[in-house]
Amino acid sequence: MKKIAIYPGTFDPITNGHIDIAKRSVRLFDKLIVAVLNNPKKTPLFTVNERVELIREVLKDEVTIEVDYFNGLLVDYANKKQGCAIIRGLRAISDFEYEMQMSLINRRLNPNIDTFFKMPSEEYTFLTSSAVKEIASLGGSVAGLVPRVVEKALKDKFKHISVIQFEV
Ligand code: PNS
Repeated sequence: MKKIAIYPGTFDPITNGHIDIAKRSVRLFDKLIVAVLNNPKKTPLFTVNERVELIREVLKDEVTIEVDYFNGLLVDYANKKQGCAIIRGLRAISDFEYEMQMSLINRRLNPNIDTFFKMPSEEYTFLTSSAVKEIASLGGSVAGLVPRVVEKALKDKFKHISVIQFEV
């Protein structure tokens, strides 16, 4: 039976830290599904389709990585996809409390699916999607923090947003 892992997240947008985690994880499993949460309660910068398309573009050479989106409970999605593991990146102590709570809740909801934590390369331990968005929104360079295609998508997005703000 194939070992399938799910790497869930908001990925708004995907960063080089996420990519590092995905590439480190896929080596351990037969297949990795990068799963973008479609959360109607949040208002992300990129739509779920835009996020999925960006990740597909960035990981197009990784033949054992699939990119998808999900709604509802992560464990239900993992179960539907026959996943045996959830992958989460752990950057610093500040991530730990939230990640531990989430992994224990998920284990309670489905004891057959375990969460595995991966540490990113140290150059990405400070990196968050929120920081990337803030830098890009203020006209700073995000080169080296996100792939080129994401850099371009951020530029386009904020160009558009500043036009709207200017018009209002
Ligand atoms: O990138 P993020 O925002 O830290 O990812 C959080 C995510 C998507 C993994 C988490 O919010 C999630 O799994 N949401 C789905 C709802 C769910 O299953 N909740 C129960 C666990 S607390």
